[in-house]
Amino acid sequence: MKIIVCENYEEMSKAGAEIIAETVKANPSCVLGLATGSTPVGMYKCLTEMNKAGEITFKDVTSYNLDEYYPLAPDHDQSYRYFMNHNLFDNIDIDKANTNVPDGLAEDPAAMGKAYDEAIKAAGGIDLQVLGLGPNGHIAFNEPEDELYVGTHLTGLTDSTIEANSRFFASKADVPTQAVTMGIGSIMQAKKIIVLASGKGKHDVIVKMQDDRITTQCPATLLKVHPDVVLICDKDAYNG
Ligand code: F6R
Repeated sequence: MKIIVCENYEEMSKAGAEIIAETVKANPSCVLGLATGSTPVGMYKCLTEMNKAGEITFKDVTSYNLDEYYPLAPDHDQSYRYFMNHNLFDNIDIDKANTNVPDGLAEDPAAMGKAYDEAIKAAGGIDLQVLGLGPNGHIAFNEPEDELYVGTHLTGLTDSTIEANSRFFASKADVPTQAVTMGIGSIMQAKKIIVLASGKGKHDVIVKMQDDRITTQCPATLLKVHPDVVLICDKDAYNG
C-alpha cells in the first residue's frame, strides 16, 4: 500500500482528484467506483472545477457507488443517490444514465445485489475505486464482524456507525439501521483503489492498516492484500 500524507483536507482532496483525473484522461470510458460521506466532498469539488475548466470530461464515464441506506428513496435528501447528484453528478458532464447507486428500495435486496455485481462485471469491472474509512474500520458498509460478505448485500449498521452518521439527520432515531452495500469481493476486484482519510478520528484505523495483519474486525485491513491501493490522508489522520 502506498501512503500519501497531505498537509490538510484541501491537499488530500486535490491529490485524490488528480488520481481520478489521470484515470479518466488515460481511459475516457473508464468505470469509477464512488463513495459518499464528508471525506470525498472536497475531492468532488476539485473534479467539478477541473471539468468546468475543460481539463477533463466525464461524458463517457460510468460510475457505481458503494452503498445506499435501506430502505430509503433516491429523492430523500439523506440518500446517497441524492448526495451524489448534489455533490457531483449535477455539476459535471457525466451522463446520469451511466451513474449507478444500489437501490435503497429494492423489494428483493439479494437479487438487486447480484444484478449490481453482474452489471459491474459486464461493464468491464471497476478501474478505480474510491473509499472512505469508518472510524470503526468499515469500508463501504462492511462493518466489523466475524464474517464478511463477498458481493453486494443488505446489512445492518453498527450503533457506532448510526451514531457517526446521525450528524446528517435530524436525530439518531432517523438514521436507517440498514444499508445495501458492495461486499469485500466487489471492492477487491477493482483494478486500483484510493482510500481518503481526514481527521484524528481515522487515526486508529490508519495505524491498523500499516502492520502485517488482517482482520475482519477492521475491514480496512483487508486492503493490504490488494496489489494497488493508495491511502491519501491528511496529517491529522496520519499522526493522530
Ligand atoms: C460511504 C461509505 C462509508 C464512508 C465512511 C466514512 O459511501 O461507504 O464507508 O466512506 O463511513 O464516512 P465520512 O467520510 O463521512 O467520514
